This record gives sequence, structure tokens and C-alpha cells, in this order.
Amino acid sequence: MLSLFFSPRGTTKKSARAILRPFGPVQERDLLGRPLREDIDVPAEEPVLVAMPVYAGRIPQGCREQLAAHLKGRGGPAIAVAVYGNRDYDDALAELQDLLEGNGFHVVAAGAFIGRHSIFSNVAAGRPDEADLAAMADFGARCKAVLDAYVPGGAHTPIALKGRHDLPPHKSVPFHPTAGDRCMKCNACANACPAGAIPIETPWVTDESKCISCGACIYLCPTQTRQYRGESYEAAAKGFEAKCAQRREPEVFF
Ligand SMILES: Cc1cc2nc3c(=O)[nH]c(=O)nc-3n(C[C@H](O)[C@H](O)[C@H](O)COP(=O)(O)O)c2cc1C
Repeated sequence: MLSLFFSPRGTTKKSARAILRPFGPVQERDLLGRPLREDIDVPAEEPVLVAMPVYAGRIPQGCREQLAAHLKGRGGPAIAVAVYGNRDYDDALAELQDLLEGNGFHVVAAGAFIGRHSIFSNVAAGRPDEADLAAMADFGARCKAVLDAYVPGGAHTPIALKGRHDLPPHKSVPFHPTAGDRCMKCNACANACPAGAIPIETPWVTDESKCISCGACIYLCPTQTRQYRGESYEAAAKGFEAKCAQRREPEVFF
């Protein structure tokens, strides 16, 4: 089993691991630390799980490009997972399904799960929680049963998932983390930034034209000086917290 994920704030990785607990040894590939620059050719006998955080209702654009160019299937089974911050996953799961099917995989199971919102951290705070982890474990057990019965090269009808198949251009998010006065110039953020938006020489600066707002820099900063800041961010956070207060529940599809 191969598990590929992108998880700047950790909830997507935690979710992938919870889902795959019933499986034996899993080979992990974290696209944050090691982006796909080479082809991965997955034999039909090897199942693959791809877990992505939802960004503006889509899978992250950079991940889409890496997966589309380099993840190659040979009619083997795939599990598609989207982790979102309690607003909605919109087109993300269908987008991931289309991408995997287009690259030669059969998506035999899909799941949308909830993780703490990585921009507005009061939204879905504490998630995935015990109930989410139990739902992930249950999904994993059901996936295992499906994969055990899977016959490579057999008939395959794509699962019906919500979301558009004819997608508009990606939307960006107008909030970017900045460093406060506790920056020690340790460069943990610059080294981790998947977008190359933090210069090594001046890591307290964020190049907003490159930043994808993923929050990896906030997660890793040893002094917690990197944060989303500013009046427009604070105002948006209040509105967003009110709009997304109602708890969403995991959804699974086979
Ligand atoms: C740029 C950006 C856009 C996001 N867009 C959405 C969204 O459209 N819907 C949603 O519910 N959550 C959204 N989120 C929240 C993430 O999907 C959620 O926090 C996810 O659990 C993050 O995964 P990670 O912890 O593995 O980084 C967004 C987060 C970021 C950083």
C-alpha cells in the first residue's frame, strides 16, 4: 500500500494514517517534504491512497500538477480522500477522482473528512476528534474488504461523487502568514515552505505572490511568531467562524 498526502498542518497526514491502520506496512510519500519530481509507476496489484487537504473547494494546485504529471496507474485500485475545514469540500473529491481515473487508477472508495481549519483555527478546532478517528478506522476497514476482493483489470464503474468535472481556474486565498518580532532567523519556515515564498536571507518576509497560504510555516515555527494577522483577517475569521459553526460529518463513498 502506497500512501501519498500533502499535509502542511498535519490533519491530512493524521487522517491518512487513521484510515490505513487496518493495513499492514504502508509506504508513505509526503508531498510537502518531498514533492513528486519523478514518475511513480504503481503496479496493478498495489493499492494507493491519495489524501489531500481542500483549498478553496479544490485540491491544492501544486499537488494536482505533481500528481497529474507523475502518478501513473496500471488499472490498480485507489482510495481518494479529501480533508476539509468544516466549510465544504465542493469539487475536491471529484477532482481527485477524475485525476486518478485519468492516470490509470480505479477509484474504489472515497472519503471526505474534517480537520481543523488551517487558516481559521477556531473552526473545527480539535478535529479530527475521537468520533472522526473512529469513522476513519471504519472507512479503512471497509476499504480493506473492498481491496481484498479487487480483481485487477475487472469491470469498473466510477463512483458517483458530488462536484463539477469541468472545473474553473483555481482561486487563491487573500490571507498570508507573516512573521512577528520573535523571528530568530532559524529558517525552519523557509526550508519547509512548499511554494518557495520565504527567502532564506529574510525569512520574516513572505512573498505573497508565491504563498499558497498552507500554514506549514506556522506549524513549524519554534517561536510561534508566524501567524495570519491584520484587520481584514480578523474580520474574515469572525464571519467564517459564524458561517461554519455547524458541525459537518464525514462522508464515505464506495
Ligand atoms: C488555502 C486554504 C484554503 C482552504 N479552503 C478550504 C475550503 O474550501 N473548505 C474547507 O472546508 N476548508 C478549507 N481549508 C481548510 C483545510 O482544508 C483544512 O484545514 C485541512 O484540514 C488542512 O489540512 P492539513 O492540516 O493537512 O494541512 C483551506 C485551507 C487553506 C490553507
